[in-house]
Amino acid sequence: MGKKQFQAFRGGAGNGYAGYAMEIIKTVGDYRVWRKDLGPDLTVGFVPTMGALHAGHMKLVETSGRANDITVVSIFVNPLQFGPAEDFSRYPRPFEADSLLCREAGVAAIFAPEAPTFYPPDFSAYCEVPGPDRFLDGASRPGHFRGVCTVVLKLFNIVNPDRAYFGQKDIQQALILRKLVRDFSLDLELEIVETVREATGLALSSRNVYLTPDEKSRATALSRGLFRAKEAWTRGEKSAETLKAMMRSEIEASSPTRIDYIEAVSQADLAPAETLSKPSVLAVAVFYGKTRLIDNVLLD
Ligand code: PAJ
Repeated sequence: MGKKQFQAFRGGAGNGYAGYAMEIIKTVGDYRVWRKDLGPDLTVGFVPTMGALHAGHMKLVETSGRANDITVVSIFVNPLQFGPAEDFSRYPRPFEADSLLCREAGVAAIFAPEAPTFYPPDFSAYCEVPGPDRFLDGASRPGHFRGVCTVVLKLFNIVNPDRAYFGQKDIQQALILRKLVRDFSLDLELEIVETVREATGLALSSRNVYLTPDEKSRATALSRGLFRAKEAWTRGEKSAETLKAMMRSEIEASSPTRIDYIEAVSQADLAPAETLSKPSVLAVAVFYGKTRLIDNVLLD
């Protein structure tokens, strides 16, 4: 279907596939055939995910729908980005519910490859963005961002989007990938979409399903601490040490199982900063039970 036919068919802007048979594509070959059939004129917005979709993911889909002719979502729990002691095998995979959400949101196609065909046994090419991957999650999860960069570069090569959407929730991931796009001159725009939160302030995450009701209510301390510190920063407090101490006291009061990090870093290179007068990020990673949660606020 060409662009004119497609636009007449979908009758307007946005995720015009709503209600129409959404494609579920499992192989690179099938995706390329489908994409070629759409013709070269349609703009493609891309939302890479690992599934277990929630309102945060759907905000990315909605944002893509406003700026592109069609939206493609990938669902792939990427083994390369999980450490050996992490939750790869128990990561939630509610594919039916995910496809329903995508269909209702007007997504044109879900690309959901199977791991063995996506990474054949002799797969050995990796992609890294050394520098900003040394701090925060990069320090706590060795190899994580190498896995993320590798899968996202591969997905970009397959999906060939005009724009790709990432959440501020994973700010380090988004900034590293923005650098990857720039360093490799990839022909796409990377957009960062604001974090979607529950009314309690808790950032939505596919991993929230692991939390007991008690852990979930204690975990609201993360956003409280971050927002308290951001308020102090807005009022003029620029000392990283003071802001980190404010966050720590709020988080410690919630009896976390373990604090992984409470950091104040520069937006430019994600390196820890002492004085937060340039655009910065306050970021935290904390365990409640076995569940590791991350959250952040931007100071700019
Ligand atoms: P996943 O955790 O499924 O997240 C997919 C996208 O949704 C990411 O860009 C993430 O930042 C965004 N997201 C998650 N929670 C959000 C929230 N509460 N508000 C706004 N956006 C939110 O991130 C990954 O998957 C993977 O690392 C991936 C990029 C797909 C590579 O495997």
